[in-house]
Amino acid sequence: MKIFPVKIEAKCLGCEKCKAVCPRHISQIDPDEHLSECISCFQCYAVCPNNAITFSKKELEETGPLPAIDKDDLKSFLAFRRSNRLFSTKPVKRETIVELIHSAQHIPSGGNAHNCKFTIITDQEVKNRLLQLIKKRYVLQFKFLQVPIMRFILTLFTDPVTRAFLNDREYLKRIIPLVEGMKNGKDLVFYNAPVVIAVHSDQLIPTPGPDSILAAYNIVLMAHAMGMGTCFVSMVQNAVNNSNKCRALLKLGRRERVHAVILLGHNKLKYQRPIPMFREDHYRFIKISDIEKRMFPCST
Ligand SMILES: Cc1cc2nc3c(=O)[nH]c(=O)nc-3n(C[C@H](O)[C@H](O)[C@H](O)COP(=O)(O)O)c2cc1C
Repeated sequence: MKIFPVKIEAKCLGCEKCKAVCPRHISQIDPDEHLSECISCFQCYAVCPNNAITFSKKELEETGPLPAIDKDDLKSFLAFRRSNRLFSTKPVKRETIVELIHSAQHIPSGGNAHNCKFTIITDQEVKNRLLQLIKKRYVLQFKFLQVPIMRFILTLFTDPVTRAFLNDREYLKRIIPLVEGMKNGKDLVFYNAPVVIAVHSDQLIPTPGPDSILAAYNIVLMAHAMGMGTCFVSMVQNAVNNSNKCRALLKLGRRERVHAVILLGHNKLKYQRPIPMFREDHYRFIKISDIEKRMFPCST
């Protein structure tokens, strides 16, 4: 059931801040008139200075006032996040996992679709089966890619990103240790993490991929705040999406695709410091040059 904002007339100050922030510019004067346009983003509820907007579903929990977070604290928190591949055997409590999943609800989502679903794997049997399927797939793929004619044929039918990888000779060299490690029985996919979370979504929503990655990153940050470790593993999602056996194991619907997979667990080691900011900044401010103005005059 879709939930809509409802104005409490007696509390409304008439400031129209609700209308100003609404992506559809709906004034909350009469919500019934605008139900079809409302995307239930609740920006109106969040902005109202007099708490004059509530929900069409009464039992919804109302949130408290704006919490302040210090800019430098946040900067340091973000800088301290690391991808963790060394997990302790300590299990993660079910309620902790649920709390993490709840944190993913606060993402921005294309068209406010909020369609991400989370499949949580803590069962060792499921993890082992998935790992075996993924391993088999990568080992076979590697064998296949070592034959130049096979590689060439594949480039003709694949997407541009995969094509670029296939044309890169260094790529095969880079994955040799991975494939060899897998053949030797190492878990270089799940790194023995106690929890694996696959974030998937229906394909027929405006932005399935970005939504899932944002949802996964909220979980990553929240886990970091709880002192736990996480790691994105794209190797899993690539294998899962293209294997019917993996899809069946994860009970994915026909139109669903996995867009992010994260490992979760308690850290075996403690990171003592963030890495320095040694990366080159890739940003630019742009403006229209006089030549461009003449070449592409703007009609408005
Ligand atoms: C979309 C995405 C996919 C990734 N896939 C893998 C993966 O398959 N295996 C892995 O070990 N790490 C994976 N990583 C983690 C990166 O390798 C990691 O971010 C990098 O090593 C830098 O470490 P840091 O996150 O601690 O800065 C992935 C990260 C992202 C964002």
